[in-house]
Amino acid sequence: MRYLVISDVHGNWEALQAVLRHARRKRYGRVLFLGDAVGYGASPNLVVDWLRSLGQKVVAIRGNHDRVCSGLDTAETFNRYAREASEWTHRRLSPRNLAYLRDLPEGPAEVERGLVICHGSLLDEDEYLFAVHDAQASLLSTQASVILFGHTHVPSLFELRPGDGHDILQARLLAGRRTVLDLEPDNRYLINPGSVGQARDRDPRAAYAIYDHDRRRLYHYRVEYPVEAARRRIHQAGLPPVLGDRLLFGA
Ligand SMILES: [Fe+2]
Repeated sequence: MRYLVISDVHGNWEALQAVLRHARRKRYGRVLFLGDAVGYGASPNLVVDWLRSLGQKVVAIRGNHDRVCSGLDTAETFNRYAREASEWTHRRLSPRNLAYLRDLPEGPAEVERGLVICHGSLLDEDEYLFAVHDAQASLLSTQASVILFGHTHVPSLFELRPGDGHDILQARLLAGRRTVLDLEPDNRYLINPGSVGQARDRDPRAAYAIYDHDRRRLYHYRVEYPVEAARRRIHQAGLPPVLGDRLLFGA
């Protein structure tokens, strides 16, 4: 099965539209959504409407912003801007979309044999997987050979290579407009496609992936979108202006 892998849209409809347009001819069977549909951006309802419209075509899990913006949790761990945005989002979400977000399962979720998705890590949906030793703890907790995760908004990959007596774990960033990777049959991977709607790796373009689990091939893309329009809508919505400004820099 080939999957469209989407994470951390954060209410950015302009970015999501550009990604869907870019992926239109890429022949994927299902969508994997790794969490954080909303929070920060000005179009939470459009993004959740799209997720709902996919029906059985999507395997979706919640992110920490979905949990807070839907009212399942407080925003006490959020910074001031994220908290303001979560309150704004909670007020704007339609009843159906609020219910959808509340019902999203917490990851990890097994999509098919050997393929698992989660938001932060396999151990904690709020954990940021930046460091190799944290990635190792997640990889040791499962037999799955490919784990797709989000939350950091940094396109990246951890590869565990079984060695003679000791395993080798390597990390790499996925940068550039298009990256194609063939995953080794005996190695195990944690892969972050990056964020559709709020890049944080100094590249403002939207990030997403196509993953072919039968061929173990990953295609990673960066897509330009009308960042200025997304920024303007955040300003006009009365959200903290910094949430729009940071989109310009991917920061
Ligand atoms: Fe996020």
